[in-house]
Amino acid sequence: MNEIRILLIEDEDFDARRVKNTIALMGNKIRIVEIVSNGNDALNILKKNVNGFDIIIMDYQIVGGLRGEELIKQIKKMDPTLQIIVITKLTIDMTDFDFANKLIEAGAFWYCTKYPGDIEKYIYQPTDFLMSIFNAFEKKRLETISHNSNRKLNHNVEQILEQKKLIGSSEETNDLKEKIERYSKTDVNILIYGASGTGKELVANNIHYKSNRKLEKFVPINCGGLPNDLIESELFGYEKGAFTGANTKKLGLFEIANNGTIFLDEIAELPQTAQVKLLRVIQEGEIEKIGRTDRIKVNVRIIAATNKNLANLVSQNLFREDLFYRLNVVPIQIQTLSNRRKDIPDLVEHFLERFSWDMGIRIPELGDDAKEYLVNYSWPGNVRELKNVIQRVLFLDKKYISSNEVKNSVVSIPKPINNDNQLFNFTTLSEVEPLRDIEKKFRQEYFDYVRENSISDAEAAKKLGLAPPNYYRMSKELGLK
Ligand SMILES: Nc1ncnc2c1ncn2[C@@H]1O[C@H](COP(=O)(O)OP(=O)(O)OP(=O)(O)O)[C@@H](O)[C@H]1O
Ligand SMILES: [Mg+2]
Repeated sequence: MNEIRILLIEDEDFDARRVKNTIALMGNKIRIVEIVSNGNDALNILKKNVNGFDIIIMDYQIVGGLRGEELIKQIKKMDPTLQIIVITKLTIDMTDFDFANKLIEAGAFWYCTKYPGDIEKYIYQPTDFLMSIFNAFEKKRLETISHNSNRKLNHNVEQILEQKKLIGSSEETNDLKEKIERYSKTDVNILIYGASGTGKELVANNIHYKSNRKLEKFVPINCGGLPNDLIESELFGYEKGAFTGANTKKLGLFEIANNGTIFLDEIAELPQTAQVKLLRVIQEGEIEKIGRTDRIKVNVRIIAATNKNLANLVSQNLFREDLFYRLNVVPIQIQTLSNRRKDIPDLVEHFLERFSWDMGIRIPELGDDAKEYLVNYSWPGNVRELKNVIQRVLFLDKKYISSNEVKNSVVSIPKPINNDNQLFNFTTLSEVEPLRDIEKKFRQEYFDYVRENSISDAEAAKKLGLAPPNYYRMSKELGLK
């Protein structure tokens, strides 16, 4: 064990000597490093070397303005792990209980009343006094450990938040940041709406790591990414022997996320049976595990996300209405990037810096034409697409980037497939359509696609190999103009 280092605050030589004598009984384990006679001197010494002491022994009645509870508070403010033992004269106005209470509230570890003056050798019953010093030291040790690990954890959270910082200063993004601050202070369920790549998961992360649950787990699950018959066992787990093949018990994600946050991505894809069980979790705070009769209590904050219009799905009976209202307590809508173009320059700069740093290259210069192109492009894949484009541009390893480089990096990204009106899904075509109709549909969709990925009609026409007047006439015939 390390030597226990003491700072003694005592203005009467007689009492200082009595404390020394008492401690001397354990002189090989406990050492009085300094003795001061007033509160200000004590604080000055601690200021210089707060780590040089473990325990403060202080007289309650000392000269000078700073003493008693106020001094205790100031010491604790400097280092909350320092333990304070108070010694007092017998003459106190208050009842012992009130007095002790005030000291403990101020942050003292223990107090004792000095022996009367005719006992010259010791300040207090030596074994009790020494035991209290050892106990205080043990407390100091434990608090230091937990203090350090909390500091580390908080530091980690800060690093995560720095990594996941929301870039942009458009009105829309500022509004979003303000909502994140506000909602992270509460425990309400949140539903995030936004097109693909707008930053839904990023927002969910920010809410979690700014909330009181930040030291607990953030568990993301993609409800669209698992086969229907697996999603329930993923979410809620099962007991050993619940079904053939269940050789061990499995913890569900809700149990894993207990006390933390679960992020249910693509919530619209959640099968109906799982919807019922999710509703139960929200209403009762309980999960039903497969193969188990009693329920398990969990405390999980739910953040869900979707790129669908969930209210529409409710009206088509594709999503449970009661669940919708439970999840949609606080809706957050993230705008598409093309609706907040003011964010684009900041995002471009951010990704250029981050990926150049990752790749160990110098940040290339961006031509004005390139900047203009980036700001005006339609960004159907939103921020994710922008991020990918910047990465591609950097792979070209050029010192100067013009709009040509940007354009080439943009067009190679296919538009995300929209399953709802996918053209060539012949297997589900119940009736064969006349060639003329399907041709028209193809043209409409293809014109749309090309135009969305071009900055002007002229460019779309050029890509399609059409003279601009022809392009314009055909668009009109297809009902696109
Ligand atoms: N405002 C922003 N600042 C910085 N990075 C962002 C911002 N918005 C999105 N991103 C980045 O863009 C990428 C896509 O974001 P995210 O995965 O959160 O989108 P999403 O809405 O969940 O997309 P999907 O619907 O496809 O799952 C991520 O790498 C994310 O870090
Ligand atoms: Mg996502």
